[in-house]
Amino acid sequence: MELKSSESRVLMGIILALSVILWFLKKKKLKEKKNEVPRGSSGWPFIGETLEFISCGYTSRPVSFMDKRKSLYGNVFKTHILGKAIIVSTDPDVNRAVLQNHGNVFIPCYPKSICELLGKSSILQMNGNVHKRVHALIGVFLKSPQLKDRITRDIEKTVQLSLSSWMDKSRLVYLQDETKKITFEILVRVLLSIGPGEEMDLLKGEFEEFIKGLICLPIKLPGTRLYKSLQSKEKLLKMVRRIVEERKMDMEKTEEKDLPNDVIDVLLRDAGESAGTHCIPLDFISGNIIEMMIPGEETVPTAMTIAVKLLTDNPTALARLVEENMELRRRKDHGCEKYAWMDYMTLTFTQNVINETLRLANIINAVWRKALKDVKIKDYFIPEGWCVLASFSSVHMDGINYENPYEFDPWRWDKTGAAVTSNIFTPFGGGQRLCPGLELSRLEIAIFLHHLVTTYRWVAEKDEIVYFPTVRMKRRLPITVAPLQQ
Ligand code: HEM
Repeated sequence: MELKSSESRVLMGIILALSVILWFLKKKKLKEKKNEVPRGSSGWPFIGETLEFISCGYTSRPVSFMDKRKSLYGNVFKTHILGKAIIVSTDPDVNRAVLQNHGNVFIPCYPKSICELLGKSSILQMNGNVHKRVHALIGVFLKSPQLKDRITRDIEKTVQLSLSSWMDKSRLVYLQDETKKITFEILVRVLLSIGPGEEMDLLKGEFEEFIKGLICLPIKLPGTRLYKSLQSKEKLLKMVRRIVEERKMDMEKTEEKDLPNDVIDVLLRDAGESAGTHCIPLDFISGNIIEMMIPGEETVPTAMTIAVKLLTDNPTALARLVEENMELRRRKDHGCEKYAWMDYMTLTFTQNVINETLRLANIINAVWRKALKDVKIKDYFIPEGWCVLASFSSVHMDGINYENPYEFDPWRWDKTGAAVTSNIFTPFGGGQRLCPGLELSRLEIAIFLHHLVTTYRWVAEKDEIVYFPTVRMKRRLPITVAPLQQ
């Protein structure tokens, strides 16, 4: 009996000693990992370097936050912002590895309020094979020549109608609001074939309520912003689900396999084809239709508005743009021909203007990812669980990558080609999550600029670009327009 108790004491001692050793080893490993994390500062307790990050965001040079740390610690550094310790990359090669997902290591990592509003099965949050499949389906549809042919007519009609309504307005035209109306109409047509009218207005109203909660305190109590946005999402889901169900019933009645009209068709057909294997549920389709509006809703009108602002400030570039577009118009008028989508996409200088606008505006200035395992990229160590902010704006505004980076110089793209996709030009992201709306966006902006500069002249009031929390014009860019004297 005594022997037994002494044996158990020895056993306890061994277990205790082993636990202590393991604890020390774990602590040492954590410390080693922490030491290997790129250099940088964690700032103040709790708030870290958030105040400086935000105050730089409010200036005309928001990348000054990154520039300062880059000069102190190198291209990749650690900081603590918006409640999180993160690693920031301003290095094009590291950004590329992060975007390429480096063997399924990096998953999206959004602030809590965004995660709540998106839901787990949103394309913006999901991962792995389901993500690959949905991304490919949407990408193939949005890039298809058939859609671009059809949508070119719709975009032209919407832009022309909107431009002609400006003449009735003896007052100022707020370009940021007008472009938002145009692009929302196109977006809902592409996603769910809704045209202008009561249904679209309802959808727009609820969607605007919904996105107000994307950046807010993550508190879900009645009366809070997040709560109100979640309620709007419920209403949106109901509206979209009804459309999806009706469409499904129509589809079951007919055997015809016409080309898909919109993203609902694309997802429903895939669900039909893979029924029983990986059937896509209807709620998944409805949710994703709403979530896909998020990346498309603000980005395109912002690009259109900022392009007009930059052109207003650069008469030489504007004159060249007018010349190129007038040439196209004369050609088309002369042959009484319709425009094809390729006509707009091959306007070299116009596409240069779009590139230069996207480079300078940095509408999506960075993407956030979380590392699922320890990774080493170049000489930088990113430990498991850390968030990485791949900063696009730092790369776009770096003098090493672009001569006189703060200058609006569309001609710089003559050397590289306007459709360039490279490590140093990533306004649409890259890798597995490269924006599927890339070509559609370029087409929309080109059609808008073409009809604007071949119909009107405008005078813009004084305004400035603000970059925080999202990129926009401070006064919504007020302009007065007059028809072009022909
Ligand atoms: C100038 C306009 C636009 C810009 C600058 C832009 C930018 C981006 C960027 C940077 C990403 C990558 C996000 C990430 O890696 O986490 C992205 C993804 C996405 N964009 Fe766009 N976008 C634009 C227009 C559009 C439009 C018009 C649509 C819809 C028709 C759209 C739909 C999407 C979707 C669905 C994704 C998610 C892709 C995925 O995670 O697989 N975007 N966009």
